[in-house]
Amino acid sequence: MNIALEKQPAKKVTTQKVTPWAVESSDGVDYDKLINEFGSKRIDNDLINRIEKLIDPKPIHPWIKRGIFFSHRDLNKILDLYEKGEKFYLYTGRGPSAGALHVGHLLPFMFTKWLQDVFECPLVIQLTDDEKFLWKDMTLKETHELAIPTAKDIIACGFDVKKTFIFTNLDYIGHLYPTILEIQKKVTLNTARGIFGFTNGDNIGKQAFPAVQCAPSFSKSFKVPLKGLKNMPCLIPCGIDQDPYFRLTRDVAPRMKLHKPALIHNKFFPALQGSQTKMSASNPNTAIYVTDTAKQIEKKINKHAFSGGQETLELQRKLGANLEIDIPYQWLRFFLMDKERLNEIGTKYENGQMLTGEVKTELITVLQKLVGDHQANRSKISDQDVTNFMQVRELEF
Ligand code: TYM
Repeated sequence: MNIALEKQPAKKVTTQKVTPWAVESSDGVDYDKLINEFGSKRIDNDLINRIEKLIDPKPIHPWIKRGIFFSHRDLNKILDLYEKGEKFYLYTGRGPSAGALHVGHLLPFMFTKWLQDVFECPLVIQLTDDEKFLWKDMTLKETHELAIPTAKDIIACGFDVKKTFIFTNLDYIGHLYPTILEIQKKVTLNTARGIFGFTNGDNIGKQAFPAVQCAPSFSKSFKVPLKGLKNMPCLIPCGIDQDPYFRLTRDVAPRMKLHKPALIHNKFFPALQGSQTKMSASNPNTAIYVTDTAKQIEKKINKHAFSGGQETLELQRKLGANLEIDIPYQWLRFFLMDKERLNEIGTKYENGQMLTGEVKTELITVLQKLVGDHQANRSKISDQDVTNFMQVRELEF
């Protein structure tokens, strides 16, 4: 079977900044440039072929073939383990800074759920209430309390409670602390500043925090959930903005005589206004939240979604749309899973047979279903379910 990576739009870019706290780009994020800067590897056709063969007959996730999960570190090593029947665990996370996730946040979580199902592995999910307290104008009580609705949104993605441990840093810190200290002792202020750009004006909590996000990459932080396995390999699915934390982790791992965590990175779900930045939870006009009503989704897309279509009907018929900058089409690339329909829309919109309004209508239907399904799942999740996921206990694997 010939499994080609689906065609990617070409990019031309002038300036960009991607950190765990900000994504800005003058002309759409240049992901090739990012791979070079960060030193990760592109997920190429050989790797896609390998994954597909290994998991056969289970189907590969369309986000890999569409280049949405596009970059990795040491994914081959994880596949080697899987091939030999050896165990690894998954680690991902979220900073509880808002009452609801936006649909961009769903990417790493939906993909992690797929990984958990396909590879049948245990998963730990870190909620960084401490990070959001240090970075945002929020009290510790606020960020800690937001962990509960955040956990419900995450659980609604379908995770298996027997294989999943969710924790907030405030609650679990005692278990993490020995590993945090080991990491902190091995990282100089110079290194942290080089990676994260901290300045003299930053509070010392921020400068110490990276070790807290690094620590769950090592299985010894999970004596009970991971059954005392001291050096179980770890795979981290996340947006590429989180990579700096794990570059640091990979740098210290050999000095701690531990496995470097492997990573698989997703691209950003762009803001409604265009792909110069990512969708952000703190700006409601850039984002569709998982709590939005069908009406709100329709209104936001119709009013704010940046169009790559032409100004007039005549011009659109004649010249067609620029798919690369068109947000309704770009968003469909993320959430319209039917490949044939996506290709048909792309072709017709690009050659002027379809109009922006029609593509927006397609997108509205897709997102209303996605968000509606999420809300239905979430309404079934109780506080007791959250307690169950957060209980320190042995996971099944
Ligand atoms: P946070 O809460 O900013 O984001 C949670 C996850 O969502 C990804 N993400 C996006 N992906 C696609 N499109 C977007 N527009 C978008 N916005 C956010 C992020 O890359 C992330 O994967 N410090 C972390 C929490 C954390 C964590 C981790 C994340 C702790 N440990 C381990 C990943 C892996 C944070 O504040 O993420």
